[in-house]
Amino acid sequence: MFSRFLKWAGGGKGRNEEILIPEGVDYAFIGADIHSHFIPGIDDGAKTIEDSLTLLRNMRDMGFKKIVTTPHIMIDFYPNTRHTILSGLDQVREAAVKNNIELDISAAAEYYIDESFIELVEREPLLPVHKNEVLVEFSMLYEPPMLNNALFRMQSSGYKPIIAHPERYVFFHNNFDRFQEFRDRGCYLQLNLLSLSGYYGRNVMDAAHKLLAKGMYDYCGSDMHHEKHSAALKGMLRTNIYNALAQYPFLNSKLCL
Ligand SMILES: [Fe+2]
Repeated sequence: MFSRFLKWAGGGKGRNEEILIPEGVDYAFIGADIHSHFIPGIDDGAKTIEDSLTLLRNMRDMGFKKIVTTPHIMIDFYPNTRHTILSGLDQVREAAVKNNIELDISAAAEYYIDESFIELVEREPLLPVHKNEVLVEFSMLYEPPMLNNALFRMQSSGYKPIIAHPERYVFFHNNFDRFQEFRDRGCYLQLNLLSLSGYYGRNVMDAAHKLLAKGMYDYCGSDMHHEKHSAALKGMLRTNIYNALAQYPFLNSKLCL
């Protein structure tokens, strides 16, 4: 038995060609997605509530049970607050119920590490993905000078950092010890699932496969912003990557307990 999904355009065939995916092959083993941009109009993810609903339906259809959506908090571009995020969450939850989308939906944030983030850590409570675990990202161009200080301040305030998509920081690719240092310091590392498919380029893909093979990831996430991402994630279900993922002991499912 096979179910039909639209194929990702990057997979070799046309965007609208259908592919066959074996029944039961889905992302249910992950359970909870901890990184996405589903609150409409407050960052570079969903633009409208209709976008949000489309992406949530796609996540449900791929087997996810729980979503912790994580809008950017980035002072210069997306100056979100607890209020913008939590009021947006109410709107998304209400729309999901009205449209019979059976997902457990909550919200946290993807905090961008800069000087203003350090001030924020000391000023008000952060929005955690789970318990005291907080998702953070930083510049993809260079290692920010305050990075270690920011992680230390977080930990001093009782938080456990989850570093989003470490494989995308190309300035670390020649220094894999740096990834181990983050883990030794008590940080979690979160794989972007699409990194494994080559969605972000060859170098990122290679780094992601290497980190996965070394068992250095703790969480995975979709980092879904739009339908191109969800189509690509569906496309991965028919690849060998799926088998490697299904055997990996990600922590995501503990959020469903
Ligand atoms: Fe993100």
